[in-house]
Amino acid sequence: MISVVCPGSYDPVTNGHLDIIERCSRLFDEVVVSVLINKSKKGLFSIEERMEMISEVCEHLPNVRVDSWHGLLVDYCRANGIPAIAKGLRAVSDFDYELQMSQMNQRLSGVETLFISTNPEYSFLSSSLVKEIATYHGDVSHLVPRSIGRRLTARVDELA
Ligand code: PNS
Repeated sequence: MISVVCPGSYDPVTNGHLDIIERCSRLFDEVVVSVLINKSKKGLFSIEERMEMISEVCEHLPNVRVDSWHGLLVDYCRANGIPAIAKGLRAVSDFDYELQMSQMNQRLSGVETLFISTNPEYSFLSSSLVKEIATYHGDVSHLVPRSIGRRLTARVDELA
């Protein structure tokens, strides 16, 4: 069985993430969506909430499971016997840093990184922009699944 990990902050999961996860689920036996914990970044949603939201929107994908990790991604891969990391590339601006990380991860552990070109429909999309738009009550209905949009609105109202 060949597994791949889709790592990220997922604060929150967007349609762009979901597109990459769905495409990976057609290529691999198992897709592990892992929420990487970055203690220095205060998120809008807790790690548990992010995992719950990913599980919700991936309910239709039986070979996808959700997990979290605090530490190096390659250590997660090693601990779970996962040979590959999948990353979506939105634009050339993503490439420099992603290439550097993939080469470092390869050198550290032998784990390979596979880049998937983002659907052009989502090439401008990021969780940070979605959060900013939601904060000012902009329309995020075409950027995130409906249930995530509802949670975003609720969280922004709670914090207002
Ligand atoms: O959604 P993001 O914030 O763009 O995801 C970036 C993430 C979490 C995948 C990346 O920062 C990462 O892999 N962090 C784990 C720590 C790690 O392994 N760092 C060394 C990279 S060479």
